[in-house]
Amino acid sequence: MRIWLCSRTREYRRVAATVVLPGQWVVELGCHEGVTTSLLSKRRPGFVLGVDRSAHAVRTATGRFPQLHFGVADALDSQLHELRENLQNRGATLADVKACFLDLGGDARLSTVLHALANLHCLPHLELLVAKSEELVRLKKQSEMLVQADVGGLCCGAEKVE
Ligand SMILES: C[S@@+](CC[C@H](N)C(=O)[O-])C[C@H]1O[C@@H](n2cnc3c(N)ncnc32)[C@H](O)[C@@H]1O
Repeated sequence: MRIWLCSRTREYRRVAATVVLPGQWVVELGCHEGVTTSLLSKRRPGFVLGVDRSAHAVRTATGRFPQLHFGVADALDSQLHELRENLQNRGATLADVKACFLDLGGDARLSTVLHALANLHCLPHLELLVAKSEELVRLKKQSEMLVQADVGGLCCGAEKVE
């Protein structure tokens, strides 16, 4: 699986506008008013669905982009029931989803983002994951620094595994 981590909306949208393959089935979890879902639709995916836990955001997205598909769903539901229902209503299943964009807010708590990521086990054929999270990007950078420091023989408080 290819994974992209972004901390800023600009990067997240740039990735959305470039990495999805034509024909791929895509969902965006945390679509808000649908701007990124709309960018995804320009990649000519097989299908694209934007979901958000806010019914207000979904209504606004539907008003702005009436030709696209939006629905209410909570990314923190461990079985992704509402996402499943939204897909079923459009003749699709969780197994059809090949690409997932996750944006619960760049400043969402790490535990929240990890919870949502863990739920993606419900998407058995995922090939591409793009997540927006400042905390995850920070952790990734820190772990790279640890690895570099270890190679240089410096101790950064991490246990060295021989
Ligand atoms: C920064 S906005 C998303 C912006 C959107 N991705 C875009 O690029 O235009 C974050 C959204 O995540 C939604 N959200 C937060 N927690 C959620 C959850 N557990 N399930 C689904 N959506 C959630 C919020 O309602 C909000 O609309």
